[in-house]
Amino acid sequence: MTYKTPRGMRDILPADTPNWRRVEAALVKAVRTHGFDEIRLPLLESTELFNRGVGEATDIVEKEMYHLEDRDGGSLSLRPEGTASCARAGIQAGLLFNQIQRLWYLGPMFRYERPQKGRYRQFQQLGAEVFGVAGPEAEADLVMLASTAWRELGIDAHLTLEVNSIGSAAARRAYRAALVEFLTPRVAQLDADSQRRMLTNPLRILDSKDPSTQALLEDAPPLEAYMDAESRDHFERFQALLTELQLPFVVNPRLVRGLDYYTHTVFEWTTTMLGAQGTVCAGGRYDGLVELLGGKATPGCGFAAGIDRVALLDAAVSGVPARSSTDVYVAVMESRHAAWAMTQASALRGTIPGLRVLVDTAGGKLKSQLKRADASGAAWALIVGEDEVSNNRVTAKRLDSGEQETIDMEALAARLASNLE
Ligand code: HAM
Repeated sequence: MTYKTPRGMRDILPADTPNWRRVEAALVKAVRTHGFDEIRLPLLESTELFNRGVGEATDIVEKEMYHLEDRDGGSLSLRPEGTASCARAGIQAGLLFNQIQRLWYLGPMFRYERPQKGRYRQFQQLGAEVFGVAGPEAEADLVMLASTAWRELGIDAHLTLEVNSIGSAAARRAYRAALVEFLTPRVAQLDADSQRRMLTNPLRILDSKDPSTQALLEDAPPLEAYMDAESRDHFERFQALLTELQLPFVVNPRLVRGLDYYTHTVFEWTTTMLGAQGTVCAGGRYDGLVELLGGKATPGCGFAAGIDRVALLDAAVSGVPARSSTDVYVAVMESRHAAWAMTQASALRGTIPGLRVLVDTAGGKLKSQLKRADASGAAWALIVGEDEVSNNRVTAKRLDSGEQETIDMEALAARLASNLE
């Protein structure tokens, strides 16, 4: 009997983790250098938090959450996203009242979606949320932050920033009524999903991928026509800031997002390089969320980057970084010298911070240890045998050129450091 991952869940294998690390490091650097604080949130929350926060009529709540019954009968769900949890935590810990918070989190999210390339049932997000700032400057700062990471990764040229405003709650109510009025006589022409959404979440119909629904929407009233002056002004200022910051964007009037908490600005970075799942990062403003979850009215905005997708894009654009887990490979000829070798390795790691030193604990012939040294990607092999130990030195072999020299232990760290970047 062998076991496999559940459908839609996957192992991120050593061949893929270097791209993941690159992507996570670039995003973590971006949030940290923009003054955000880290928050760690539980994987399980009360189901009710997401029902209310994300919205009863969203795909996520309707059909994608993993539920489990707690032993005391309460209903818990694996988190499908982080914004509702983050707002919950902010309220619970009293972080939001009359304060500005900039928070980031990194971790897995769970959605029971149909798996395909770039869409998984467990996926990783890095999220950044700003609480307590109402103006579009906070949104522009978030866009700038993410753009910094895309630039650092070298994937910026393959991403398009799409922006839209879905207006205030009042503007959206008025628009929803107009859209329903327009679509009602044409309901038979809509795809099945959109027909269902007529009753539950008509705005999401704008997001339909169905070509005939899209054609029908050509004549629908534009959302923009229902925007109040304040919503219009907010969106214009947001765009002006992006222009001034030289952050290219396109306005996509059909961009509505799949979570109910958004107000005003919404945005997504998309790529054409990943097939159907081309949205690598998305977010927007959610001024009503904190109050909806029982806190005092607090404006908020944020985004979440899908690490799985950014890592796929990074691998496609930048290639897979050369696999190397080791800088220095210590071959040990006799097991009675293993402790000596480990002690020296430990001293080396202490002297050269970050140096990756692997001590071969598997033994065997020198030839097979050197073969493993080559495969490890190390620059140096240090050979430890009877002669070396008794003279307190090592035979050091450069694995690229094959050159060999004998180095006293006192001189070793300096010699290695001069040859490793
Ligand atoms: P979202 O659009 O649902 O927004 O997800 C954000 C990103 O997570 C997506 O753009 C995508 O890259 C990635 N993602 C979503 N679902 C999957 C999946 N099944 N497999 C792989 N990647 C996926 C949110 O979650 C909001 N909480 C974002 C936000 C934060 N808005 C404001 N603050």
